[in-house]
Amino acid sequence: MELLKRKIEKEGTVLSDEVLKVDAFLNHQIDPELMLAVGEAFASLFGSEGITKIVTIESSGIAPAVMAGLKLGVPVVFARKRQSLTLTDNLLTASVYSFTKKTESTIAISASHLSKNDNVLVIDDFLANGQAAKGLISIIEQAGAKAAGIGIVIEKSFQNGRKELDGLGIRVESLARIASLEGGKVTFLQEVRS
Ligand code: G4P
Repeated sequence: MELLKRKIEKEGTVLSDEVLKVDAFLNHQIDPELMLAVGEAFASLFGSEGITKIVTIESSGIAPAVMAGLKLGVPVVFARKRQSLTLTDNLLTASVYSFTKKTESTIAISASHLSKNDNVLVIDDFLANGQAAKGLISIIEQAGAKAAGIGIVIEKSFQNGRKELDGLGIRVESLARIASLEGGKVTFLQEVRS
């Protein structure tokens, strides 16, 4: 997605060979017009898949997921990372290890928002090692629903996540794929178009 790539080049900051800061439009301040375009891009990629629900994870997955939900005309459920006062019963959970943060956390979604008839699109802001997406897919499977696809806003293709998710046999689409952050510079993957 060219608009997203230009935004990353213009407003992203490379913090290290592994980490890209995009607080100006995705992870802290949010650019609504860009998010709408992101939602449209996901809707056009997954529009023919019969999606009935979108699942994401708080907090930075919510903005792109809501816009995709708007464009696909389906509800959006976000997994919680912290315990909620009201969300206590009937929880489906998964344990997610973050290689970036070196922390283990439990993510949860209420079983009442996922049914075995659902055909689910997973959306997340970043794909690093793929652990968050795998946790979401585990929850979708626990509900007896189908994981129909995974939509990622920014993929760091030099990390393991893409390989992990491709191994699941689920369609993965990333709007920007980063080949390298070396030398303080964002280099996008050169994608061969057929
Ligand atoms: P994984 O799910 O792909 O395995 O990712 P990992 O555990 O390594 O990442 C943990 C958190 O760090 C996630 O956000 C993820 O989006 C974020 N992250 C990973 N790499 C980058 C990066 O290069 N830049 C930025 N900006 N974020 C990155 P989180 O802690 O869940 O945050 P939030 O969703 O609450 O904002």
